[in-house]
Amino acid sequence: MAAVFLAGGAGYIGSHTAVELLNAGFEVIAADNFSNSSPESIRRVEQITGKSAVLYEADIRDRKAMTEIFRKHKIDAVIHFAGMKAVGESVQKPVEYYRNNLDTTLTLLEVMREEGCSKIIFSSSATVYGAENPVPYTETMPRGICSNPYGWTKAMTEQILEDAAKADPSLSVILLRYFNPIGAHSSGMIGEDPQGIPNNLMPYITQVAVGKREQLTIFGNDYPTPDGTCLRDYIHVVDLAKGHVCAANYILGMQGVEIFNLGTGRPYSVTEIVDAFERVNGIKVPHVYGDRRAGDLAEFYANAEKAREILHWETTLTLEDMCRDSWNWQKQNPNGYR
Ligand code: NAD
Ligand code: UFG
Repeated sequence: MAAVFLAGGAGYIGSHTAVELLNAGFEVIAADNFSNSSPESIRRVEQITGKSAVLYEADIRDRKAMTEIFRKHKIDAVIHFAGMKAVGESVQKPVEYYRNNLDTTLTLLEVMREEGCSKIIFSSSATVYGAENPVPYTETMPRGICSNPYGWTKAMTEQILEDAAKADPSLSVILLRYFNPIGAHSSGMIGEDPQGIPNNLMPYITQVAVGKREQLTIFGNDYPTPDGTCLRDYIHVVDLAKGHVCAANYILGMQGVEIFNLGTGRPYSVTEIVDAFERVNGIKVPHVYGDRRAGDLAEFYANAEKAREILHWETTLTLEDMCRDSWNWQKQNPNGYR
């Protein structure tokens, strides 16, 4: 049984990935400083799967703590989720974002080298394609100019990992570029639990639906898209989590660096998401149209062929599943894990 270390594993994507890894027979060791999560998520992962995971409260930048974990467990591969991820906040706090998101990676690389672990999968983002590349994005395109410090931490981390692999041919790296993950586990026991006012569309919609916020503002309806609102490639978080299981299996037998888009390849507009949410759940989401949000691109979506061909991974869950499962989680946990 291969053991996977989830750095930042208690978060939204980490907890869903833990479920799928445990179901696929992997051993799961996670560490998190709970800066944006709760240990409750991993407790629920254990309830969902009926299997145990090891969870440490630790900062990934803490070399001593990481060394202890790597000495205690024989770790075959690392999945690096640990990072701060709020685009707007990163503009206000660039130093904190660079410090956290880059140091976590550097500490992991140092400890992995010292302790003989040579496989790392990184949570990157479609944002690294920048505004210059045409859609759909394919992995062979060059990284573009990012519009905010958060995006730059992803682009820089990709570069760091590529350079490290070039210098050390025994190191294998997979860069997973996520598109827009939404949804939750079908049990409604784990899901996205943003602190404060949500930045992202789906958690905002569910908080309006549950009565925590008055109305949704749709940022811009004058984009050059069919209905004037932005197009994104929304992907169910459980499909995304299964992509990590495929990547974990693949990295055990590969050398070098591979990049994979994890998206569906099918874009939807903001209005289509709101309409689908209302239709599937039979609940109204009061909304108004407002100004464009700075930094938003009119559209981006994945070419998802490479992951299909090489990882044998395909998304199976629909927009209806995403809307139903997001609402199921929010309804059952109006205050998240608190
Ligand atoms: P999340 O905030 O729920 O998960 C990140 C986890 O990392 C949290 O549990 C947080 O407490 C932890 N963490 C942060 N810094 C840490 C540190 N120094 N030490 C230990 N733990 C630390 O976010 P998520 O949505 O699950 O995203 C996971 C990863 O995927 C992030 O790197 C994020 O940037 C990336 N990503 C997310 C999206 C998205 O839309 N959710 C899109 C593209 C990429
Ligand atoms: N939106 C609204 N109202 C809201 C929130 C969002 O209309 O209250 C719109 C946005 O303008 C955008 C769409 O919904 O058109 C999706 O917005 P999100 O914030 O959910 O997602 P983004 O596409 O902006 O961000 C995602 C990831 C980031 C990543 C970024 C790349 O969440 O990690 O893509 O641009 F950096």
